[in-house]
Amino acid sequence: MSGPIILGLETSCDETAIGVVRDGVVLSNVLSSQVDDHARFGGVVPEVAARAHVEAIRSLTHRALRDAGIHQLDVDAVAATRGPGLAGALMVGFSYGKAMAWALDRPFLGVDHMEGHLFAPTLEHPGFEPPAIVLLASGGHSQIVLTRAWGDYETVGATIDDAAGEAFDKVARFLGLGFPGGPAIDRASDGGDATSIDFPRALGDRPTDLSFSGLKTAVVTFVRRHHEAGDLPPLSDVAAAVQEAIVDVLVAKTMNAVEQTGVKVVAGGGGVLANRRLRQRLTEACAARGIRLFLPSPILCTDNGAMVAAAAAFRLERGETSPLDSEVDSSLRLGS
Ligand code: KG4
Ligand code: ZN
Repeated sequence: MSGPIILGLETSCDETAIGVVRDGVVLSNVLSSQVDDHARFGGVVPEVAARAHVEAIRSLTHRALRDAGIHQLDVDAVAATRGPGLAGALMVGFSYGKAMAWALDRPFLGVDHMEGHLFAPTLEHPGFEPPAIVLLASGGHSQIVLTRAWGDYETVGATIDDAAGEAFDKVARFLGLGFPGGPAIDRASDGGDATSIDFPRALGDRPTDLSFSGLKTAVVTFVRRHHEAGDLPPLSDVAAAVQEAIVDVLVAKTMNAVEQTGVKVVAGGGGVLANRRLRQRLTEACAARGIRLFLPSPILCTDNGAMVAAAAAFRLERGETSPLDSEVDSSLRLGS
């Protein structure tokens, strides 16, 4: 017997993303990126995001169904991101999902965006099972989650200031690399010497806490000073060194969490996990300790609808659904 076909809608930020999943298999995963709409503002503009979701969501849903080779009546449950995210943006996918579930007379599930990221590795790695330490790093959140079982989460480390993706985005904007900053720095670092500049690694009070706000100040000070002195190193060196500083902190803190908990499995999710250097360094650190590592493909690290459907499948199997009068929660916290 095959499990339910779940359609997942993701509109928490600047991607309208829809995925169809059955039994942990991605039947389709499509998205309409708003990067160009926001790039000229240098960041995501909430009102622009919400409007773009409204414009994209209907035709994108049809595309997701077509790519999956199914009719809308084949959908067994509809899921949408409930939070965290931009309230107006969340409301578009959430309302659309509730309306679709109501019209089709199917269950509706509101999904925690970060639980979606946490489920993303399961879509390609059926062997990924808790207990695991999961590094979740995106534009708005950075946390290290002890996942004891599916649905049983303890945040053992979190950023005390900026999220890792935010650090990439802020530094990239300052360096004139554009938006979004993570992929831009990832690319700009090609051929750069990461050891040429020693940017600070904020190690914080607790071994698993993260901190990135000091890094941006350090980069600004460094670039201004060397620009004035006329000896600014190549952009590729600056980008590689910034990236290395962020990656060092993420890897060190994740490994601290592994040591603290004794867990032998590590996974990751969120846009920052698409970073090539982070993936390489996590792979090396886990191999050196005999830890199994499960990373989604880059396309499943960044926001997508399939991860929402995957998390919803778990919730549905437990008999959980969300009432049609439920609301978005822009500040939803994992495990709450
Ligand atoms: O998970 P995500 O797609 O959206 C949020 O939930 O925020 O993460 C977006 C973040 C942005 O800050 C973006 O710059 C960062 O992920 N990002 C990357 C890379 N690709 C996306 N950061 C570093 N390297 C990348 N290749
Ligand atoms: Zn995300």
